[in-house]
Amino acid sequence: MNTMIRLEGVDKVYRTDRIETVALSNINLDVKPGEFVSVMGPSGCGKSTLAKLLQGFYLPTHGAIRLDGVDARHLSANELRSYFGVVPQETVLFSGTVRDNLLLANPTASFEEIVAACKVAQIHEVIERLPKGYDSELGERGTGLSGGQKQRLAIARALLKHPKILIFDEAIANLDASTAEEFIRTVNTLHGHVTILFITHALPRSLQVDQVVRLGPKPEVLTAVPPNREQAKSRTITDSIEPPHSESSN
Ligand SMILES: Nc1ncnc2c1ncn2[C@@H]1O[C@H](COP(=O)(O)OP(=O)(O)OP(=O)(O)O)[C@@H](O)[C@H]1O
Ligand SMILES: [Mg+2]
Repeated sequence: MNTMIRLEGVDKVYRTDRIETVALSNINLDVKPGEFVSVMGPSGCGKSTLAKLLQGFYLPTHGAIRLDGVDARHLSANELRSYFGVVPQETVLFSGTVRDNLLLANPTASFEEIVAACKVAQIHEVIERLPKGYDSELGERGTGLSGGQKQRLAIARALLKHPKILIFDEAIANLDASTAEEFIRTVNTLHGHVTILFITHALPRSLQVDQVVRLGPKPEVLTAVPPNREQAKSRTITDSIEPPHSESSN
């Protein structure tokens, strides 16, 4: 069975004292290794819930999630989280050097690995131009890096974990249109090198996805549309890319 992610009839119901919210209802999904999938839909349709279920922050109310053929219930929290690298909507940088901020994701990463990840994320040259390169201090709020640069650093950080699955959770929501387009070009170069879930409320046309999963507005509606053939054909993988070593962990 050649499936990286499989969701079988997954429901997620949040229960608080008096309220039940059906965030996801009967979600079925198959994602192959290296596939680039966009999960889209309006606010409240369950996109973040889906990301959290995959990472094991919550359990499905019904149904099953399989990763690489293994029922996620049989994976420990650490095993489960080692599958994923996440690029969030807002990247938090800590005071410390660029290198410190990258090592956070994987404290045992060598400098060569850090540089390789930054090259893939197309942030290496920006870092080299900083006064002290990788040893430049970033302020508490990441002073010195633009929003787009921070998001690229987040890709590098996520790749350093050698994830099998990269989740972008509204990673372009805070970027202006032209910065988002540049960022998408970088994301497109990862196509095929790692399984990608790109969560967004509005699907950018330039994103070279294989499959689009639409959630909501009513949570019970799910349609997986076939791959956009035109986009699939036009897809290119940059020759110079360093593969994110998805095979090397476990
Ligand atoms: N921890 C929680 N407890 C109770 N209800 C929740 C919780 N998290 C999410 N919900 C509800 O579940 C539904 C789906 O929320 P979710 O955050 O997954 O949506 P989303 O698609 O990510 O939205 P957005 O685009 O605004 O980020 C919403 O109705 C939300 O109010
Ligand atoms: Mg969300």
